Amino acid sequence: MKKYNELSVYEDMYPDFFNKPIPPPIPRYTLDEVTLRDFYSNIAPKDVNLSTKIGPVQMNFGLFSACMDSIGGPDICKVLMEIGACGIIYRHKKADIQLQWLSEVLEHKPCLVQNPIALNPDDKIESAHEILDEYGFSTIPIITDKNTLVGILFTRDVAFKENLDQPVKKFMKKFHDLRVAEVHTPFADIRNRLLNEPACSVLPLVNGRHSLKGIYFRKDCRPANPSFHNEKPLVGMAINECEDIRRVEEALTMGVGVIIVDSSHGNCDNVIELSQKVVQLVKKNNASAAVIAGNVASIDGYNQLADIGVHAVKCGIGSGSICTTSLGTGVGVPMWSLVRELAYMRQLRIQDKCENIPEIIPDGSINGTGTYVKMIAAGGHAGMAGEWLVAAQESLSAVEHHCKEGDPVPYRGMASKGAIDARSSLRYGHGKKAEEGVEGFVTCRGPLKSWIDKDKELICGGFAHTGSYNIDKLHEAGNTPTAFSLITVAGQNQMTPRVRQ
Ligand code: XMP
Repeated sequence: MKKYNELSVYEDMYPDFFNKPIPPPIPRYTLDEVTLRDFYSNIAPKDVNLSTKIGPVQMNFGLFSACMDSIGGPDICKVLMEIGACGIIYRHKKADIQLQWLSEVLEHKPCLVQNPIALNPDDKIESAHEILDEYGFSTIPIITDKNTLVGILFTRDVAFKENLDQPVKKFMKKFHDLRVAEVHTPFADIRNRLLNEPACSVLPLVNGRHSLKGIYFRKDCRPANPSFHNEKPLVGMAINECEDIRRVEEALTMGVGVIIVDSSHGNCDNVIELSQKVVQLVKKNNASAAVIAGNVASIDGYNQLADIGVHAVKCGIGSGSICTTSLGTGVGVPMWSLVRELAYMRQLRIQDKCENIPEIIPDGSINGTGTYVKMIAAGGHAGMAGEWLVAAQESLSAVEHHCKEGDPVPYRGMASKGAIDARSSLRYGHGKKAEEGVEGFVTCRGPLKSWIDKDKELICGGFAHTGSYNIDKLHEAGNTPTAFSLITVAGQNQMTPRVRQ
């Protein structure tokens, strides 16, 4: 296996800073300090494909939720897989809770309305009118007391009836005339039927005894682009201690798609050894899960984890929205330059035909659409986000605090006082007292699916402006010598709206 000398790679990248008795600091840039130029393009945002591959895992949208206790519960993981991304169940102190949450996501059926408002066959059509008036629902499953589906009432069929005393069973479409799906039908088949069978705008899900398990609607399934891995919803788990290996073994049996060895400093023996054990465990189990490890902020850190065979390396130290690591310890590497350095290293490994060439996952300061596009153009393959995703009504913190759109969602660093107090801090070592993160708030944007399509449209807009119909093409664009500009303070000002709003 070829061993790289970190300094000679840096020297290749920054020759002017070498061979000086006292080297000056290297100018390194954050994602906010750079901007992309446009390229000739006939690509429309709708033609852009945001899919990416992390080791054996195919994602329709390269976005992971941060491994944090404000975010990574089952609800956000379910909606993230529905939009093609991947949620990470944070490393809960209790293995059984983490595994239970994982199993909840792995059994999730995207777009299924699980408990639709239903009526009994003998209910009067007056009740159907009430449902129509209050919720505007046009489709009402008719079930017996034992939850057996006997028909569906389409409210259009009773909208103008005058005798409201008649039972709904008189007007419902009876079971044997309905199109239904069996519980184990793959989502792709459900979607296919809903989009291609004209008379099939809804599809009830039933078991062998016709017991109603939920109902699919064409309008929900049409825009859905969920990520599956080995036919199960794509979801990941974070770990950070050797003893976590036992929970990984169980999770692999359950079908987990991604395992993240998550540490604030990944370039150390503990993390390298743990990551190696996880890589071996995945191989031993013949599992096809992706192993991601980090965080690193140097070429050496990337190579150390690459050499032991992880599929992707998570990078970023000191750049998260809740981080005070750089302030407190003086250590941190601005994200744009960090991604460039690792992308450069990765390119060398490709040229040298190395066996292991991990993908790059920037983590910290990917706070929305613009930074996401710049991060991919710099060389990232997917991003990890905290601040951006904690704003979803499904983040663990928003769920716990019952936040709705406009409410403040509490968001805290994993090394903030609250997080340190809340656990016996294993991640940061026993007895860690000094905080390296803060506790704050982010404004709730409502349910993720109510806003993420707009965010994706902006991201696709960034790809389209640079003539890139996919991630590989954006990497190419980002590698042209004139792609990025450095923004001055005046430039920053010009990029921000300057009218009163
Ligand atoms: P964003 O910017 O997406 O960053 O909110 C999330 C990432 O920040 C890291 N993280 C921390 N870093 N102190 C730190 O220095 C902390 O307390 C802390 N908690 C999380 C982590 O990498 C996360 O994904």
